[in-house]
Amino acid sequence: MLILGIDTSCDDTSASVVKDGKIILSNIVSSQEEIHRKYGGIVPELASRKQIEMIIPVIKEALEIASVSLDDISALAVCYGPGLVGSLLVGCCFAKALCYAKKIPLLAVNHLEGHIYTCFLGEEPPEYPFLSLIVSGGHTTLVRIDDFGKYKELGRTRDDAAGEAYDKVARLLGLGYPGGPIIDSFAQDGNPNTIAFPRALMNQGLDFSFSGLKTAVRNFIIKNSVSKNSQLLKDICASFQEAVVDVLVKKTLIALKKEGLKRLTISGGVAANNTLRKRIIKMAQEHEIKLYIPPNVLCTDNGAMIAAAGYHYYIKKRFANFELTAKASIPLECLI
Ligand code: KG4
Ligand code: ZN
Repeated sequence: MLILGIDTSCDDTSASVVKDGKIILSNIVSSQEEIHRKYGGIVPELASRKQIEMIIPVIKEALEIASVSLDDISALAVCYGPGLVGSLLVGCCFAKALCYAKKIPLLAVNHLEGHIYTCFLGEEPPEYPFLSLIVSGGHTTLVRIDDFGKYKELGRTRDDAAGEAYDKVARLLGLGYPGGPIIDSFAQDGNPNTIAFPRALMNQGLDFSFSGLKTAVRNFIIKNSVSKNSQLLKDICASFQEAVVDVLVKKTLIALKKEGLKRLTISGGVAANNTLRKRIIKMAQEHEIKLYIPPNVLCTDNGAMIAAAGYHYYIKKRFANFELTAKASIPLECLI
């Protein structure tokens, strides 16, 4: 049973062929990093124009690498939100047209659901119930998952998402876009204890806040001259990263304990972060938590995660109709 998964939620065009909801036959991601780098962030209009240009070549390549044709595809899963509405529309319209032409079912997947179900790709998916930490450029969310479609949001960011904070701090430091991988790499040579940046809402529930941290970095830069490639620059990166990771790990542990859960998945672009991965692995070992972290390539946006979540819609025969449209902002809806 083959599902073609499509994600065009932001600045990547991605398509993937996934077998039986867990075996990735192909996963093509066309990145727009080069286009947006000079602006220090994503320009939505440019992103959607590039999506239009790339959608057909990316899907063709995904089919080719998987050695299948459209006739072999059982259903098409598409991300319809949340994200940039212009970019999402490209994937949605294309998916609807393809399903209409090929008379195959259309599966509508929430982007957050895609990130959660990334951890179902592979031979050993997590058993329910489990806790999911989604950390990306658009979200920082803790969700309890009791079954497919049975979600309870425990906490979320009140302002910037963790990845957004990485990107904004990288821009302040003149490090380029996307900031996450660059800060991650600079931080490896820095001292995380150099600057005591704030850990917001640390002992106040499960919500997150990263905008104050970003402002603290900005204030520090204003008061101190930071030259390119200096040790101070690396120390700022390491200290900023330590503050982000401290909060993420601590709140995740509190959520696990509060909910009495022993299984944890972590996904989204920031889950590719070296320090976060190390610290969360250590925390899981110390507290006997079974941890599921996707390989780096599946942490950032990709079509395979949309196909993985779409598989569950297919099994439950929850097909979308052609009224499906892109939604910039939608919650993680419960289906049961
Ligand atoms: O999941 P994703 O590809 O897109 C969204 O759904 O937002 O996540 C992209 C985010 C960006 O903010 C990027 O800077 C961040 O993930 N990111 C990282 C790393 N790799 C990507 N953040 C920290 N460390 C990394 N290694
Ligand atoms: Zn994402």
